[in-house]
Amino acid sequence: MPKVTIDGHTIEVPEGTTILNAARMIGGEIVPPAMCYYSKLKTSGGYCRTCIVEVSKGSEKDPRPMPKPVASCRTTVMDGMEVKNLTSPALLEARAGVVEFLLINHPLDCPICDQAGECHLQDLGYEHGKAKTRYEFPRRTFEKIDIGNYIKLHMTRCILCYRCVKVAEQLTDGRVHGVINRGEVSEISTYIQNAIKNDFSGNMIDVCPVGALTDKTFRFKSRVWFTKPVDAHRDCKKCSGKVRLWEKGEEVLRVTARKDTYGEVVDWICNDCRFEKKKIGDWIIEGPAKIDRHSVISANHYESLNQLKLAVARQRNKGGKKPALGEGALNPNNI
Ligand code: SF4
Ligand code: FES
Repeated sequence: MPKVTIDGHTIEVPEGTTILNAARMIGGEIVPPAMCYYSKLKTSGGYCRTCIVEVSKGSEKDPRPMPKPVASCRTTVMDGMEVKNLTSPALLEARAGVVEFLLINHPLDCPICDQAGECHLQDLGYEHGKAKTRYEFPRRTFEKIDIGNYIKLHMTRCILCYRCVKVAEQLTDGRVHGVINRGEVSEISTYIQNAIKNDFSGNMIDVCPVGALTDKTFRFKSRVWFTKPVDAHRDCKKCSGKVRLWEKGEEVLRVTARKDTYGEVVDWICNDCRFEKKKIGDWIIEGPAKIDRHSVISANHYESLNQLKLAVARQRNKGGKKPALGEGALNPNNI
């Protein structure tokens, strides 16, 4: 089994494991962020570049470092490989650049966005201190689009991670949802408001890492941190029926799938459970949900976020001079 060392932690992993998954096997703060990779969706990953890492040693056979950052979700581990994530100031600088690019067209409308508090881009912007943009040109703007009865698309917030497209391809029958056009004018489309009439289409909301796909039954009802997440289940003929209820007082404001540490859905749920069962009596309550993520929704447990911010700040300071961005930034001589 190939052995890989990531930020000083060594692990043996099965042949064909990606660097990102090897890091997830180690766990903790060394795991790179991932905005487009989704372990439950085939062919996901490779679009957003947030998961980049520095490969400082290619393998035992060929120890040369890789000349530039690589997407850890798409790069497989080689025996003897050494990888730097938080231990490389140049890499952190490069990732901050990726975050800045993702924010070029993304509006900073967190105060009115339903995803605020559980948005991966918001977390990344916070971790890397990117509260401003240097971009001076007009941003892309779009009209909001209704995708069927339950989902509204804010294309201005979309980072084109393709996760919803993969859900449409892999979970729902018949593909009516994809990306049209190229480059700056790319947008996800339902081939002009062709509603997605499928029992599992609501899962697109859960996989969206930003607030581009919103639940029309929950929009503007509450900030997510004012709700109480509770795990519950029901006997459902279409899906596992295992969900998370987001309660405010006696009211169920929102029903979502349960998510793991990396914000990925544990079991896909059907639209009946998600949109139609909004009474507490519809559910068998299991108890308060444990949100195992460094976000505001982790119900006031910010320990891991603080650790991560500290680690990023430590590495930045250790780097001394700011490494040059662009080609050669990961040359060990620059670090
Ligand atoms: S709408 Fe969301 S899930 Fe779909 S491509 Fe855009 S950011 Fe990704
Ligand atoms: S998570 Fe790897 S490129 Fe997006």
